[in-house]
Amino acid sequence: MPNRHQHSFLTLEETATDRRFAMPYLKTFDFAGDYINASHSRLIAKIHDTGMIDLGIEGWLLPADALKLYELVYFSGGDVLELGTYKGLSTSIAAKASFDANLNNIVVTIDLSNDMLKSARHNLRRRPGAERVHYFAVDGGKAVRDLGQANRVFDFVFIDHSHAYEHVYDVCRSLHQVVKPGAFCLFHDFNDPRNAAADAPEYGVYQGVCDGLDRDVFEFWGIYGCTGLFRRIA
Ligand SMILES: C[S@@+](CC[C@H](N)C(=O)[O-])C[C@H]1O[C@@H](n2cnc3c(N)ncnc32)[C@H](O)[C@@H]1O
Repeated sequence: MPNRHQHSFLTLEETATDRRFAMPYLKTFDFAGDYINASHSRLIAKIHDTGMIDLGIEGWLLPADALKLYELVYFSGGDVLELGTYKGLSTSIAAKASFDANLNNIVVTIDLSNDMLKSARHNLRRRPGAERVHYFAVDGGKAVRDLGQANRVFDFVFIDHSHAYEHVYDVCRSLHQVVKPGAFCLFHDFNDPRNAAADAPEYGVYQGVCDGLDRDVFEFWGIYGCTGLFRRIA
């Protein structure tokens, strides 16, 4: 039975103080020891001055974000959807976790920018699991609606595309169409302090998630680093 950390919930006001480095990685799934395997622990072996992980691909994942992403893909049992590819940092973790768990799956990654997808494809070449990654240039909200209409469902979804309220809200309104019952979805930048800042109107991830997700369908499961975890319960 997975472990829920509902006590880690933060109000929007609480996220205004930067607590991203104070929200530790905690296990959702039960496994022996602190890490699933050596690959899991190696995610945080090298850290930039900024506090972000360094896997040789540009990106902005905190140690807790990376550990949680790997864990959720590893135990997902199936297909993964990612919104927001950028240079492929999170994609490489999803591919590696899928490979390490010996999943017979695919990783669908979505980005508005063809240039980013090209760059990610280049960065992932020869990395474990790269052959299972499929790249699509499309808006995140449209991708979710199109996949839903095609009855394409996933065992885990990582949402890290736009920081704008309307884009996150848009995705959240149709997310139930692509997340299998019981599966998890992880929102990056959920508790980024800029969401609550009056001088950063372009940030509204927390508000987009809280307004957009139907709480009869998605349950809050925890905050780790700057990620917010939700589970489809109905
Ligand atoms: C924060 S970066 C993703 C970082 C990546 N997940 C990683 O770990 O390195 C956000 C990406 O989302 C893309 N993006 C922005 N708005 C989008 C939208 N509406 N739909 C799809 N992708 C979008 C941007 O082009 C950018 O590459």
